Amino acid sequence: SKGTYEFYMLKEIDEQPGVMRRLSQDYLDENGEPLVDQKIVDAVANADRIYIFAAGTSYHAGLVGKDLFEKYTGIPTEVGYASEAGYHFPIMSKRPLFIFLSQSGETADSRVVLKEANKRGITSLTMTNVEGSTLSREADFTMLLKAGPEIAVASTKAYTAQIALQAILAKAVGEKLANQDAKDFDLKHQLALAAEGIQEIVDGKERFAELAKKYLIASRNAFYIGRGIDHAVALEGALKLKEVSYIQTEGFAAAELKHGTISLIEDGTPVIALINDPVTADLTRGNIQEVTSRGASVITIVGKQFAKENDDVVLPDLNYYLSPLLTVVPTQLLAYYASKEKGLDVDKPRNLAKSVTVE
Ligand code: F6R
Repeated sequence: SKGTYEFYMLKEIDEQPGVMRRLSQDYLDENGEPLVDQKIVDAVANADRIYIFAAGTSYHAGLVGKDLFEKYTGIPTEVGYASEAGYHFPIMSKRPLFIFLSQSGETADSRVVLKEANKRGITSLTMTNVEGSTLSREADFTMLLKAGPEIAVASTKAYTAQIALQAILAKAVGEKLANQDAKDFDLKHQLALAAEGIQEIVDGKERFAELAKKYLIASRNAFYIGRGIDHAVALEGALKLKEVSYIQTEGFAAAELKHGTISLIEDGTPVIALINDPVTADLTRGNIQEVTSRGASVITIVGKQFAKENDDVVLPDLNYYLSPLLTVVPTQLLAYYASKEKGLDVDKPRNLAKSVTVE
């Protein structure tokens, strides 16, 4: 039940620290070693390429998963829209392993890809929140997200659970492959930091109501920008905001705006900039300058180590590859408050259903 909450979306945002702790407890032992079915670890470790298929928010979690798998296992990883791959099947490596990310486990677009994979004898793993769901039953292996029921149409805690679970699997597989980065990856500690960090952000949620009111609700459009792993979060932040507030929002690789889209920046156009990538932090600052000088109202969401005096939101420290676990939370809260302040039905945006069982 919603309890004292007006909408499930905020309740589910608030549940994320608990989800991080549960995943850590259930999938990591007291020494931080992964507790993942050995058959799954062996199957992934044996692959020469990982292919992740999903839709919407789960696809965006897959973009983060790509970086996690490549960093900690060394296995090249591709991410595709299930809806596209189903009818334009990618060229396969010799030993492919498919991962399906799906909160509901019922997404029709993903089922098409899985059917084809089964026809071809490709090993598959479904990460889902729903035990016994179709994608779980039809795949060789399942790992459960354990996020608890997600009721709001806009996905929040399933996204962060998908990232954490992919990190757990990446560490398990990487250790099996004697990957030094995987051995050194103190995931138990990092997930504890993630839980604390998310808690700190949601405890300050009023700030996001203010920002949404000041910068977003009167605008017909908005942009999210970021580089590296922040680009993936920019796509998710944009989907969340447009989905529940109806403010048309696009996520961009920060430097790409100037290759065309910057012509849409006017006085007061909201641009939300994400900075967690040490390699490109200064370059993104440059891109903020470019849009500011053309009139944009910029909101900065920045990891502590990159923070400057005038940044709007400063995120607690976290491993770069897990930073989306924190960065996404302000984007969820901005979306929530923009929708709520506009008087919309936050949990049930128009034209949408919780699970999409048509192609
Ligand atoms: C957006 C959202 C959708 C779903 C997508 C996939 O907030 O919820 O984009 O992520 O429809 O759904 P699942 O994960 O159930 O396969």
